[in-house]
Amino acid sequence: MNTAETRILELRHALDEHNYRYYVLDEPSVPDAEYDRLFRELKALEEANPQWVTADSPTQRVGGTALSAFATVRHEIPMLSLGNAFEAQDLLDFDRRVREGLEQTTVEYSCEPKLDGLAVSLLYQQGQLVRGATRGDGSTGEDISTNVRTIRNVPLKLKGSGWPATLEVRGEVYMSKAGFERLNAAQAEAGGKTFANPRNAAAGSLRQLDSKITASRPLEFCCYGIGQVSHDIADTHIGNLKQLQQWGLPISRELQIATSIEQCQAYYQAIGARRQALAYEIDGVVFKVNAIAAQRELGFRAREPRWAIAHKFPASEELTELLGVEFQVGRTGAVTPVARLKPVKVAGVTVANATLHNMDEVARLGVMIGDTVIIRRAGDVIPQVMQVVTERRPADARPVEVPRQCPVCGSEVERTQLIKRSKGKQTVIEGAVYRCVGRLACAAQLKQAIIHFVSRRAMDVDGLGDKIVEQLVDTGLVRSPADLYTLTQEQVLALEGFAEVSSRNLINAIDASRQPTLARFIFALGIPEVGEETAKVLARSLGNLQRIMAARPLVLTYLPDIGQEVAYEIGHFFEEAHNRTVITQLLARGVQPQGEGELHAEFAAATTFEGLVAKLGIPYVGPGAAQKLAERFGSLEKLAAADWLDLRQAVAERAAQAVREYFDDEPRRTEALAVEQQLRDFGMHWASTRREAEGLPLAGQTWVLTGTLESMTREEAKAKLEALGAKVAGSVSAKTHTVVAGPGAGSKLVKAQQLGVRVLDEGQWVAQLAHY
Ligand code: IVH
Repeated sequence: MNTAETRILELRHALDEHNYRYYVLDEPSVPDAEYDRLFRELKALEEANPQWVTADSPTQRVGGTALSAFATVRHEIPMLSLGNAFEAQDLLDFDRRVREGLEQTTVEYSCEPKLDGLAVSLLYQQGQLVRGATRGDGSTGEDISTNVRTIRNVPLKLKGSGWPATLEVRGEVYMSKAGFERLNAAQAEAGGKTFANPRNAAAGSLRQLDSKITASRPLEFCCYGIGQVSHDIADTHIGNLKQLQQWGLPISRELQIATSIEQCQAYYQAIGARRQALAYEIDGVVFKVNAIAAQRELGFRAREPRWAIAHKFPASEELTELLGVEFQVGRTGAVTPVARLKPVKVAGVTVANATLHNMDEVARLGVMIGDTVIIRRAGDVIPQVMQVVTERRPADARPVEVPRQCPVCGSEVERTQLIKRSKGKQTVIEGAVYRCVGRLACAAQLKQAIIHFVSRRAMDVDGLGDKIVEQLVDTGLVRSPADLYTLTQEQVLALEGFAEVSSRNLINAIDASRQPTLARFIFALGIPEVGEETAKVLARSLGNLQRIMAARPLVLTYLPDIGQEVAYEIGHFFEEAHNRTVITQLLARGVQPQGEGELHAEFAAATTFEGLVAKLGIPYVGPGAAQKLAERFGSLEKLAAADWLDLRQAVAERAAQAVREYFDDEPRRTEALAVEQQLRDFGMHWASTRREAEGLPLAGQTWVLTGTLESMTREEAKAKLEALGAKVAGSVSAKTHTVVAGPGAGSKLVKAQQLGVRVLDEGQWVAQLAHY
């Protein structure tokens, strides 16, 4: 044998061994990178020597030419199904029948999970995988040989020796929960079809005429039995499976032996408790008489073995009818669709309502009133509408329509608008959320707003529960959060369930809430997108309520962790007259936010003139051009008034042109100048960092820190980056150079990934720092 051929055999052997350890034993022996390296080497050698490519090479799992139809396969031994036990009694009856049939007092059972995928038969001849087939109707299935060959943990040839010349193994092809999520995310991204559950995804992926598609799907195989064999393997079912594992076939890691039906019941309970945590979906467990001789003795009844039974979990998915869609109004006025269903028992609980999230989801599902829908309930999660059974759509099905008027207050319902900014251009697109414009005039929003306002982490009014808030709003005593502070004990006493002491306590608790910290006060206002953390940032950075209320969105984006969308929400909130009125009333009625102070030094330092120029988002004016413009003009006023020649001396023609166009637009010019003025009013000093930054390794780059850092505080990290010339921003945009993401990183990390911005973890970043 020449050396290339020897190496090919060596590589195949090594890759098969790694695959076995990885997929069958779950004990990976080499890092993925090493596996990939060996794989590439084999692939290259096979490409150079096509005469040595064999069907069982690990490189042959990529799928082949698409088929026009699947051939049919006859199952020599029919692929049967299992009887089901739903109640404990069904199981006891099964055990009694088995013991009577065998005339034994005790019987040994194998216990295994019932995987929720699809049954497949794999035929090995002389240890080589020669055919894969679906179950079909049990007697004939479809030939899916090319597809099963793409499944990573299906051995193309058996390991070891001693296998029967003909060996048909049977098992389930399934998709893990994680694989399913990944696939659906990728499908959604590519605008493709998403799947309702891992089972459908597995079925859809396996029955592809184009095996290249199957190859790209995260399918897995688990072996649970044997069909045709040229000689017996072991005398127990578990013995058979253990031997199959030795030959390289994946078996369940949850296999157990039970010596009584009580132990089977305990197994059912134990697996049931871990069901959510398992990496794959199961719909029950399967018990099988372990001794093969006993199985033969018991035989079959109709199309089911007498020696096995599936003990199903209560279904977590059910079919029911969508009777109607109601719209609920939340704290921020979001009008969200809720499905009203014909009540149905799902996993032991009667479900009559399910969430539909928003109108985009309604459109994605294509759901109509009157439709039969699949409902899923998982653990404590709110039941969800998963899918529509379109074949069952009645002729009088009606589309789901958003009401034009708020169902609670009758105000107009408007579609939210999202403002996308890119290259200095703003585009307004329609959002998925509809909002009632009624604000505090809408009882639903008012109730939610007050519940939030008085909550523990906001104004912390002790003892003012949801039910009392409802009464206060329904009786008209409270029409805004400010009205809480004019309530009298007599008024409270008149409400249901109040007595002398309880009414006094409530008034005292309201009184005691009059001096919140500024951050709590801001949080309590319920500004959309402003949680406790953002409220703290606003309070700490801007120091007082007046500045927070006056701050322009662009100015707010200078604050740590405040991006454009949040800044816009804050600006919008304080622009609205009725919000300002409520705040004025609160202050007039004795609410005094505490701890107001000066503008934070961190904020003053974050603002540079060149930074402002760059933030305006003028096309072709990136950090470099912004620096040059800042150097030359020193203020926006001068920049806005600059003549063409001056501009051209600072920057390239198209940037100069863009600057011109930007300031020719009157509203933009006015806003930009107002922002500049505000930054000055807020105590900012223009300190161009140009000279310091020039020549520094990270000059001109914008970095974002997100998540928790372990080796240093965020302040330290920021200082390090700035010392290297980088700018540290609070939000991720296409201009971000790098994002350092620690544990717990959330939306910023997602955004960075979406925009293709470089992301480093803390370790990688610290390693990079060491190079400077
Ligand atoms: S044994 C004659 N074991 O359940 C016995 N089936 O309802 C045949 N299934 O078609 C099946 N996990 O697709 C068996 N551990 C397991 C199983 C299992 C899932 C599926 C299989 C079968 C169906 C029967």
